[in-house]
Amino acid sequence: MLKRALRAGLPVGLRKGIAAWLARRESVSSRHWWAAELLRDLEEASPNEFHRFLWKHHLAYAQTYEIDLRFGPEQLHPSRQMLFDDLEKFLQENGVDPRTQVESILDVGCSLGYLLRHLEQDLLCGAERFAGIDIDEYAIEKGRSYLGEQNSQVELVAGDLSEVPEKFGRAEFDIVMCTGVLMYLDQETAAKMMAMLADRTRRFLVLSGLANPEFDNRDMSASQRRVEDQSFVHNFDSMVEEAGFEVRFRRWSGDELVSGNSIYFLIATPGTERDD
Ligand SMILES: C[S@@+](CC[C@H](N)C(=O)[O-])C[C@H]1O[C@@H](n2cnc3c(N)ncnc32)[C@H](O)[C@@H]1O
Repeated sequence: MLKRALRAGLPVGLRKGIAAWLARRESVSSRHWWAAELLRDLEEASPNEFHRFLWKHHLAYAQTYEIDLRFGPEQLHPSRQMLFDDLEKFLQENGVDPRTQVESILDVGCSLGYLLRHLEQDLLCGAERFAGIDIDEYAIEKGRSYLGEQNSQVELVAGDLSEVPEKFGRAEFDIVMCTGVLMYLDQETAAKMMAMLADRTRRFLVLSGLANPEFDNRDMSASQRRVEDQSFVHNFDSMVEEAGFEVRFRRWSGDELVSGNSIYFLIATPGTERDD
């Protein structure tokens, strides 16, 4: 009742102000719930804005992104371990030693930087540059401070993924990785971001998104909304090809979940880089 009355009675700007204020009140344990509920009407009407706001203020689903819960091999989500195993195998099969022949990686939607740290310590340990960008300013700050204490070379930048060109200039990266992020953007925006990420990828574009549980994402003619949280199930295959890249590896597991995550992975390369 109260939440509906607040939504109906207060303009969005004011509700956002209250949610942002709540975000800084750690003593209010229901702040995550309240923030999402105050803005629930945006979820349907303006999904990009809704998701961006919650992530930016480290609210709602962002609350499990904390140092203690994310860093260390034992905390690596099994679906990400699976992706890294796939990446390792793919690189080796294509004559690239991941430990000595990859120089740089950009992780878009990197949160605290725990995936970059894992890659730095394990799979891509010979690389010289590990960069990450995320809209969640709290996560970037916490991650940066933790990584500094670990003498890590991972560099983290706060910003929306659309700001990659502004934050990283004309830099290109051997690997650009974007996992579990484009689902918070509608089809048109996600496709635009895919083209921008492809533009920054020197060798391998590595993606993970929501799998369509009913049929392979590559056969989808348009993106669909996931019922439980209104995030987007996309056809990355067509977006990647639209961006002039070639899909070289894919894994789609339909409705099978790995510790709660659906599996839709792609590894793509610039159109000219072919086996033959
Ligand atoms: C589900 S988490 C995935 C984190 C990590 N990539 C992984 O695979 O474990 C989504 C991440 O994307 C970030 N994110 C969401 N929308 C974003 C945007 N518009 N620009 C940059 N980062 C964004 C969130 O802050 C969050 O850290």
